Amino acid sequence: MKIIAVSDAHVERHGYSALEEIAETEADVLITGGDIAHGNGPAEKAYSIFSSFPGIKLAYLGNHELSSMGPKIGQHYQELDAFYRNYGFRLLDASPFTLEGVSFIANSGWFDFSLYREEITPEILATAKRMMNIAYKQRDTSFAETCFEKLMEDYANVAPESEKVVVGIHHIFMKEMMRQDIENYNNIRDMFLGSTIYKKVFSREKVALGLTGHTHIPGEFKVHGKEIYNISYTKNKPFTVLEI
Ligand SMILES: [Fe+2]
Ligand SMILES: [Fe+2]
Repeated sequence: MKIIAVSDAHVERHGYSALEEIAETEADVLITGGDIAHGNGPAEKAYSIFSSFPGIKLAYLGNHELSSMGPKIGQHYQELDAFYRNYGFRLLDASPFTLEGVSFIANSGWFDFSLYREEITPEILATAKRMMNIAYKQRDTSFAETCFEKLMEDYANVAPESEKVVVGIHHIFMKEMMRQDIENYNNIRDMFLGSTIYKKVFSREKVALGLTGHTHIPGEFKVHGKEIYNISYTKNKPFTVLEI
């Protein structure tokens, strides 16, 4: 099964030409992994381009899709599912999908400050909480755990009928997935990159492949012996093609 995957296309910034190329690429499955567009108009244009892809079309959300829906993060799956269905996509945050023994489980994931590379002092915590309220319209980090529990529940539901499970999480879950080419690590934005909690999903037997994004740095990683790809768009590598 050939999969073409892309996250973080941010069409307002990078335009739509990569999407046209993706829609014309031959593959069995197209997966969009969040942060495709910021606003509703560009999202409609982006997904109408993707809709011409002839294979199975799957999507999961990024923080930008969630924040464009307003402050009640995690409470819009029904209406978002309806939006994606208009373009022939299934929203994996709402429910998993299985094709020929391969199941796909995915959601945006979220952050819980666990990826910060320095000690979290009370001052840093206070600043991070202020930023969280303003920029993310979220008062606590509990949505990270909600997303984790949903992935574990989805795995338990699909595993009996699956040979392999593909897991997508927009946010990252290992310090190795963060920028490495910097000298000091005390960037407060690192607190919002993701959560180490998601590594546990990859300990599950049938999980065969992982997708992540959000950092805008494509890369390959291993967790519990499973291959993980950061599928972020870049100008040089607009999408990732995988075989399972
Ligand atoms: Fe992004
Ligand atoms: Fe993101």
